[in-house]
Amino acid sequence: MMDFTGRHVVVTGASTGIGHATAGRIHAAGGKVTLIARSAGRLAAACEELGTRAAWVAADAGDKAQLIAALDEAVEVSGPIDGLFLNAGTGGGFAPVSAYDDEVWDAVMAVNLKGPFWAIAHVLPQMAERGGGAILVTGSLASERGMANNVAYVASKHAVLGLARAVALEGGPQGVRCNCVVPGFIETPMLDALPPEAWETMAARVPQRRTGKAEELAEVAAFLLSDAASHVNGQSWAVDGGVLGTLEV
Ligand SMILES: NC(=O)c1ccc[n+]([C@@H]2O[C@H](COP(=O)([O-])OP(=O)(O)OC[C@H]3O[C@@H](n4cnc5c(N)ncnc54)[C@H](OP(=O)(O)O)[C@@H]3O)[C@@H](O)[C@H]2O)c1
Repeated sequence: MMDFTGRHVVVTGASTGIGHATAGRIHAAGGKVTLIARSAGRLAAACEELGTRAAWVAADAGDKAQLIAALDEAVEVSGPIDGLFLNAGTGGGFAPVSAYDDEVWDAVMAVNLKGPFWAIAHVLPQMAERGGGAILVTGSLASERGMANNVAYVASKHAVLGLARAVALEGGPQGVRCNCVVPGFIETPMLDALPPEAWETMAARVPQRRTGKAEELAEVAAFLLSDAASHVNGQSWAVDGGVLGTLEV
């Protein structure tokens, strides 16, 4: 049973999709939540819907100064951070590796990898000083598999899994767990732009023969951030209907 009563969890990429659903799940389990993303309007609306115990800060997670200021504001408003869900992500453009744009590469790395690194470097010592905490990063099937024409995304998502595993080892003795949740094909705005045939192709590749809901991902993300997962550390935890665990021939 998940209980976040008295706990403060910060979620990046919380204005829509997986982050929004996870903030809602943690709030429903009694937690205080701080929602971070760029769009102030969507964050304000989400917090209004949640009511008390919910705050937001608008910040670009790929900008170190903005991200650190947002984390400090979260502490100031809602108290020390017990859980940190580093979920903000961007896909970047699609191009062959030989034509991949340097600026797009840097932008993808800033949001998907450097942001989580900056946030962990800032918050881990605070958690350790208080005797513990839980950190979760959002990976992807691209944390475990290659994909064509999407090199920055694949490299960033492999790297963020490595970040989680390194932090699991450094944080473990200090009471801080760090895991990586790996979404499969989840129905969120990130994939909304795809045409219906692409959805059908994705669903056909899933052993369950369907895509996932943000709420199904949120259930596992909240679990990994909760004391119910107190001995889960350094894991890549897929919520993908069986894609990574199987081989269909
Ligand atoms: N949906 C899937 O099937 C799937 C599969 C694999 C991995 N993922 C990963 O899951 C995570 C969440 O994605 P989602 O599917 O929930 O998509 P989404 O609904 O588009 O959510 C992305 C979130 O990240 C925020 N964001 C993007 N760039 C940001 C930036 N520079 N600074 C701060 N916030 C930023 C967006 O808010 P603003 O635009 O307001 O900033 C939004 O809240 C991402 O890391 C993504 O790579 C998703």
